[in-house]
Amino acid sequence: RKRLTIHNLLKMKQGRNAISVLTAYDYPSAKLAEEAGIDVILVGDSLGNVVLGYETTIPVTVDDIVYHSRSVARAATNTFIVADMPFLSYGASRETTLLNAAKIMQQGGAQALKLEGGAEIASDVEALVQAGIPVMGHLGLTPQSVHQLGGYKVQGKTEKDAQKLMEDALALEKAGAFSIVLELVTEPVAAAISEALTIPTIGIGAGRGCDGQVLVYHDILQYSSPYFEKKFVKTYADIGSTIRSAVESFVDEVKTRQFPAEEHVFQPSSASPTSLYG
Ligand code: KIV
Ligand code: NA
Repeated sequence: RKRLTIHNLLKMKQGRNAISVLTAYDYPSAKLAEEAGIDVILVGDSLGNVVLGYETTIPVTVDDIVYHSRSVARAATNTFIVADMPFLSYGASRETTLLNAAKIMQQGGAQALKLEGGAEIASDVEALVQAGIPVMGHLGLTPQSVHQLGGYKVQGKTEKDAQKLMEDALALEKAGAFSIVLELVTEPVAAAISEALTIPTIGIGAGRGCDGQVLVYHDILQYSSPYFEKKFVKTYADIGSTIRSAVESFVDEVKTRQFPAEEHVFQPSSASPTSLYG
């Protein structure tokens, strides 16, 4: 299977083929997502919450994104990889935006970058696109602005808010974005934006009218503790419970000396393992 391009994604929208996007933050998660046939992998700054244990995405740094993107890029050699630009790594000045973008592209190995915000960052988006970097927008509930928004609230509920979202989406498309994530947006508003745009929208908690859907790896797998249910997430496995009970079994078998057993130990006649890892 070949890595998709931004042109393939546009064609998918035109052909009404839904685009599947999942986050991944390291080698095994990216490898498994690619093997499962995901269209796009997002190295989201949600890694701050789900793998680094922060309360918000605000503490995530460019170096964090680079570190995680590198491991994803080593695994997903045939999948289109988008990396998030973290909090204030863009939008402060044109120069810092371009330098941070260069670092994530060169050292992280992503094929595209995602930025939160609308018309106010359109000139940054334009500069990145002119530099040859595909840019994904992100509107609605933008977690880097959680304190400004006053919490994780559904967006687009008022006429004014809906109109602002539409204007921002059109501004991002005009600036050259190849796609836009819509997060926690009411279904009718996300559908109207998807209808109005040529480029594909990728929804998360934004309903059925979007051109694709994105969820967080650890959410669909319940790979966290504690696990919080979210209305917009569907879980497809309960990896958290699986891991906890597996580790309990390991602890128990070490304590009771059931592990290691005969098949796990080396005798003078035993062959050496072919590798220690992998
Ligand atoms: O960081 C992230 O995982 C994201 C998605 C939820 C869109 O931005
Ligand atoms: Na993000």
